[in-house]
Amino acid sequence: MRITFPPDFIWGVAASAYQIEGAWNEDGKGPSIWDTFSHIPGKVVKNQNGDIAIDHYHRWQEDLDLMRSLNVKSYRFSIAWTRILPAGRGAVNSPGLDFYDRLVDGCLARGIDPVPCLFHYDLPQALQDDGGGWKNRDTAYRFADYARVVTERLSDRVKIIMTHNEPWVTAIAGYLMGIHAPGGKNPYNGLKAAHHVMLSHGLAAEAIRASALKPVKVGITLNLSPFYPATDSSRDIQAAEDAHAMINRVALDPLLLGTTPLMENWKTRWLATTFIKEGDLEKIKNLDLLGVNYYSRNVMKFSLKNVPLFSEEVKPVGNEYSEMWEIYPPGMFTLLKRIWDDYYIPAQAKGIRMPELMVTENGVPVPDTLDADGHVHDERRIRYLRDHLAQVHKATQAGVDIKGYYVWSFADNFEWNLGYGPRFGLIHVDYESLKRTIKDSGNWYSNVIIENGFDTGG
Ligand code: FCB
Repeated sequence: MRITFPPDFIWGVAASAYQIEGAWNEDGKGPSIWDTFSHIPGKVVKNQNGDIAIDHYHRWQEDLDLMRSLNVKSYRFSIAWTRILPAGRGAVNSPGLDFYDRLVDGCLARGIDPVPCLFHYDLPQALQDDGGGWKNRDTAYRFADYARVVTERLSDRVKIIMTHNEPWVTAIAGYLMGIHAPGGKNPYNGLKAAHHVMLSHGLAAEAIRASALKPVKVGITLNLSPFYPATDSSRDIQAAEDAHAMINRVALDPLLLGTTPLMENWKTRWLATTFIKEGDLEKIKNLDLLGVNYYSRNVMKFSLKNVPLFSEEVKPVGNEYSEMWEIYPPGMFTLLKRIWDDYYIPAQAKGIRMPELMVTENGVPVPDTLDADGHVHDERRIRYLRDHLAQVHKATQAGVDIKGYYVWSFADNFEWNLGYGPRFGLIHVDYESLKRTIKDSGNWYSNVIIENGFDTGG
């Protein structure tokens, strides 16, 4: 069967600064919490770090040429805050801004829409040292200042500015689970940081709108997952709904409704009232574009662990797993449809204009190798992308208005605490020579873009 996407569907690729740029201390860049964290022995698999990464900072022209050759329409990248403001605040570092200026021009010259994201986990170390990073409400205000500096420079050319990538991961993986920088392990700090990141979105949205040279859309990207109960017991159903509230709704509700589940639930209200201030939620509801990152689903059961969630993830059996997660394409449809049904349909019924919706990340790690013929035959990734795109298409058929889709990632890169093990790219990178090779999936995706669809084979 042939499936065709809506006209003007945006076909993109995504990446982030720390994962690809390298040049960690060049041209006046200040250290970020990821520079610090990855240099601490034991924090990242094999003690790897992003000092060089895939050297995108120096090879960006070659990388944009490769994207062009794949017919990519849009490139979602992130800006390293510490290239722009090395200490997180204060003096602007012009060479840092110049880099992103050239990158934006380079995209435009190749017919690629540049979509910058202001924050993808790499908080200035200076802001972590002084006040505790996202635990500190003041960081949200510093983020808005940084947003203004970038907007003043780039908004004559970019049409979208994304504020954050996956606020939940920034806060929870970084301040509660301890697996990401800065490595904090405190539930209260995790929730507090999560709120401050969301608040910073609202403050930055105001700053972007006030300083834009031309109108730009303000976007955000969320890590969302459909939550399924492990059994049909009422306790497991409740556990899945609580996890949905704490991971999905905690970001979606403030952005789309101006409310938060943290205040509704007795398990979290007593904590939330200590850091959510009057007027915060109204500020956060300021959005033109909602990006959904989908990789896998979560199956939950009731448990006394993970206070205040009272739920625990179980590993479902029966489906194939990648190096990181269960492969579950139907979850893409379930998730998009639920967002649409829970937020968009009720709002539209009241005549409220809602943000555009896009899939801003989807992809799979595959242990790719260069074959003797010089190619990477990553058939597993082609199947993953095909099956997930089929679910995106199914959602569009069910009335969900999805504007675009971005593959994570354009090239293999540094996968945070897992280092260079998992390879997510459409382009293979030899980490010794830094040579790039388009994988079979890259050529497949390029064809999908040209044809605005594909054959499902069924
Ligand atoms: C997402 C992150 C991205 C990458 C992929 C695999 O959660 O946004 O940086 O790590 O997962």
